[in-house]
Amino acid sequence: MKVVTLFGSPRVNGNTARLAKEFNNTAESSGADVQSFVLNKMNFKGCQHCEACKTKIDNCVLKDDLTEVLDAVKKTDILVLATPIYFADITAQLKTFVDRCYSYLEPYEHKGRPDTSRISGDKKLVLITAQNASDELFPEVCEKYRMIFRLLGFEESHLIRGCDLMKADGLKTKNREDLIGLARETASKLIKEVRYN
Ligand SMILES: Cc1cc2nc3c(=O)[nH]c(=O)nc-3n(C[C@H](O)[C@H](O)[C@H](O)COP(=O)(O)O)c2cc1C
Repeated sequence: MKVVTLFGSPRVNGNTARLAKEFNNTAESSGADVQSFVLNKMNFKGCQHCEACKTKIDNCVLKDDLTEVLDAVKKTDILVLATPIYFADITAQLKTFVDRCYSYLEPYEHKGRPDTSRISGDKKLVLITAQNASDELFPEVCEKYRMIFRLLGFEESHLIRGCDLMKADGLKTKNREDLIGLARETASKLIKEVRYN
């Protein structure tokens, strides 16, 4: 069973990285094969909208550091996306990856309906976010990316939203053990589900 984790923050020891590492550690100790990518350390371009993935080949024509990531995500059982909220959205690093996921979609005329994914629909998404604001702000960001990844083949999704992190001094204070616990619990629950399905 495979887990692919994309670290979307430039802060390697930041809040989202901490939660993603907790998820990964639990997944690994439950027997998962975990592959991680730190997007900020990689070189890649955004989608060029060249349509090669719709007219010539069934993957992204660009060859850069995202080539391996796109391939790994295609084969994974669980995808973990960890990102801070930057100006009411995910980071640019992660959004660039999301745009390249356009290559997962079949051409519009495929099967007579638009937006059919080339990857199987039984994958699970875990979206880890962190923000200074309270949980009342930006829930729509998570919903938007859940919807996008449902379309791409990740039918089931789980959220781990770290909110009010400025007030709580990030994840350093003990009162955010709830989030760390949630990351561990989500990992062990999903690994069990994937194993017995
Ligand atoms: C460029 C930038 C934009 C940000 N925009 C927001 C925002 O719109 N709302 C918010 O609540 N926090 C915002 N933040 C704060 C981060 O989301 C917050 O510090 C988060 O915990 C950082 O996660 P990390 O430690 O994983 O990098 C922003 C931070 C930066 C650097």
